[in-house]
Amino acid sequence: MQPEQIFNWVQEMRARSNRVFQLKVRIPDSEPVRDLNHEAKVRAFLGQWGLEVSSEDAEGSPLNFDAQCDAMLAVCPRVISYIMGAYPAPFVARMKERGIKWFATMTSVKEALAAEAASADGIIAQSVEVGGHRGSFETEDISRSLVGLFALLPAVVDAGKVPVVATGGIADARGMVAALVLGASAVQIGTGLLRTPEAGIVSPWASTIGTALP
Ligand SMILES: Cc1cc2nc3c(=O)[nH]c(=O)nc-3n(C[C@H](O)[C@H](O)[C@H](O)COP(=O)(O)O)c2cc1C
Repeated sequence: MQPEQIFNWVQEMRARSNRVFQLKVRIPDSEPVRDLNHEAKVRAFLGQWGLEVSSEDAEGSPLNFDAQCDAMLAVCPRVISYIMGAYPAPFVARMKERGIKWFATMTSVKEALAAEAASADGIIAQSVEVGGHRGSFETEDISRSLVGLFALLPAVVDAGKVPVVATGGIADARGMVAALVLGASAVQIGTGLLRTPEAGIVSPWASTIGTALP
């Protein structure tokens, strides 16, 4: 979201809810190394499906990450989290000054320890079962982060000191209790909530989720 979209969303959230929410942004990748020959090949490849891809399509500019961070500090939520990287130390210091807790999303013990070393107040342990994207940022050996919640959660809880939020494949009370038994302090549900009216997805998708498991 652009900064003004963050302001508007927070205003609406505060007006229409119990005012407990967190904000999360994606940590930007470093500037890509451009290879114009390769880009031309990719454009030609994609163009086979009917829509011509112009060279200007590669010129989109990413969101201004610093402006997003300033907007999040200005609205001062209780929690800010991140995915796919780590907040720079000066931003962490500004969060701490304002009493904002920050939760780090991680998918391996190594990432969890890195987040704790960067003084995260909480760890969101995101297992391989999650729907949608995952927040992995250690890309050296991605297979090491393809771990199920039952194995990942106790390992992360044992390795670190801060509270752990378990997420991945939890959609009912049994899953929540299992995660708490394995050491989680809280759980986060994603796919299960896609079926709520508030998620606003079209009903054929919502009902397909309900029959996804054979
Ligand atoms: C549609 C959708 C999009 C998501 N996008 C992201 C994302 O961009 N980054 C991320 O770290 N997690 C993302 N998630 C994962 C959630 O934050 C959460 O960790 C996950 O959905 C929990 O697992 P569950 O879907 O099995 O309940 C997404 C989940 C869904 C369902």
